Amino acid sequence: MTHSTHFDRPARLLHWSMALLILAMLFIGVAMVTSLADYGTLVALHRPLGLLILLLAVLRLANRWHRPPPPLPADLPPWQRRAAHASHVALYGLMLAMPLIGWAMLSAARIPVVVVGPLVLPPILPQSPMLYARLRELHTVLAYGLFSLILAHLGAALLHGLIRQDGVLSSMAPWRSRRSVGNS
Ligand code: HEM
Ligand code: HEM
Repeated sequence: MTHSTHFDRPARLLHWSMALLILAMLFIGVAMVTSLADYGTLVALHRPLGLLILLLAVLRLANRWHRPPPPLPADLPPWQRRAAHASHVALYGLMLAMPLIGWAMLSAARIPVVVVGPLVLPPILPQSPMLYARLRELHTVLAYGLFSLILAHLGAALLHGLIRQDGVLSSMAPWRSRRSVGNS
């Protein structure tokens, strides 16, 4: 069986569009809580984009199930292999957890979770100011955790691309590389 050296096209498209969306969401979130004048506009952007990330993360995991990622280089030290695996699990976990916590905290505060126009999501938690306060704090702590993880992920990607030059960075390149041997 031949293994592709690349993530398939949907995986690459989802990776890069979601990377842009998630980075934008982190900055929109911080801008939102520090701005009084644009608060309403920023929240109205933050909610639907966050829920879009939840939807795309589910699609991405389903695609990953059907088209498993290319294997890591055989000579990669076991600790780096474990670190890559653990960080990817954490990234996927946070891509699902952040929007769900956003939705849950607004539910606990009984603030309508408006997606767009008349489309409003139902509450997923009972009303509880205590739960709201806990989840609101968790949303912030995990957002900063996600940002730190993205920085580490970027560092690892550059280590692979510039120092090891082992094909890991190009496996996720948005363009199709000639090194691909699979049918992506
Ligand atoms: C990947 C998805 C998401 C990311 C990365 C994200 C990120 C953030 C960040 C960085 C903040 C500012 C935290 C602070 O400095 O205290 C924030 C606040 C907030 N987010 Fe999210 N968020 C996401 C999804 C959502 C969703 C789906 C909702 C609602 C449905 C939501 C609702 C809120 C609310 C209500 C606040 C606080 C506004 C305030 O206290 O005035 N977030 N988010
Ligand atoms: C900042 C620029 C980024 C670069 C240069 C980059 C690069 C890469 C590369 C080269 C891979 C393949 C690594 C491997 O197979 O082990 C990868 C995988 C991955 N990236 Fe990124 N990435 C970036 C941003 C992000 C962001 C913002 C997220 C989400 C928060 C993210 C989430 C992931 C996940 C979950 C995987 C694992 C894919 C899988 O195995 O299904 N990346 N990235």
